[in-house]
Amino acid sequence: MMKIAVLGATGQTGLYLVQQALDQGHCVTAVVRNPAKLTVQHENLKVVEANIFSADSLKSHFEGQDAVMSCLGFPTSFFSAVTGYTRSMHATVKAMREAKVNRLITMSSWYTEPNSGSQSPYMIRFLLLPMIRSILTNMFQMEQFLQKTSDIDWTVVRPPGLRNQSASALGFLTHEGYFVPGSGGAPVSSAVARGDVARFMLSQLNNNAWIKKGVAITTN
Ligand SMILES: NC(=O)c1ccc[n+]([C@@H]2O[C@H](COP(=O)([O-])OP(=O)(O)OC[C@H]3O[C@@H](n4cnc5c(N)ncnc54)[C@H](OP(=O)(O)O)[C@@H]3O)[C@@H](O)[C@H]2O)c1
Repeated sequence: MMKIAVLGATGQTGLYLVQQALDQGHCVTAVVRNPAKLTVQHENLKVVEANIFSADSLKSHFEGQDAVMSCLGFPTSFFSAVTGYTRSMHATVKAMREAKVNRLITMSSWYTEPNSGSQSPYMIRFLLLPMIRSILTNMFQMEQFLQKTSDIDWTVVRPPGLRNQSASALGFLTHEGYFVPGSGGAPVSSAVARGDVARFMLSQLNNNAWIKKGVAITTN
């Protein structure tokens, strides 16, 4: 049993993560902006309201936790850059240091690195990636910040497109990089269930293989 603080617990992936963590016997503190939105009830679930952009606000909720997990997501905008990933991660890392929590597992995406989509299918390269570029850019900045964060045992989990389905029993394909390559080196074509992303993230609580690394995942 571990004690886990979850950011983005009200989101589509976050909800799967909270439910699976509780099913596995963990104690979960869901750190949310709107407690009324989290309708799950469980004796090992505590829901707290905090500001994800403020280390002062997060710190007390991180004290005594074994790990912080983030499924945060921020919308794209035509008019301004996305900054939520870096701003929340700066506050999270500061609060983790102050609360002496050392393990961080966070979600980003395939293709955060600007050139990593060059072998992706036409529709992804010329339609999807330009549409979500401002999100990918800020995720990449968050990843670069973590690369410089040597005192925290962080893992960045990079999924491809997400489907709103619960966890399967499928195995995972993993790759230290910005997508999972097939035998020819180009990305395997895939989308992954949000429940499986949550399952992979939780499996990292007992796995040191991807500490201080970004791992692209998909199911096979
Ligand atoms: N869609 C895809 O195909 C795809 C592929 C790869 C990676 N991703 C990334 O995976 C991550 C998770 O995706 P998802 O679809 O599960 O996310 P989601 O359903 O959009 O959930 C986002 C979460 O972030 C929280 N959040 C956003 N702004 C916040 C703020 N200012 N303060 C507090 N909480 C805030 C939301 O809280 P509220 O519930 O209060 O709004 C929600 O819990 C995202 O970063 C997404 O970009 C997506």
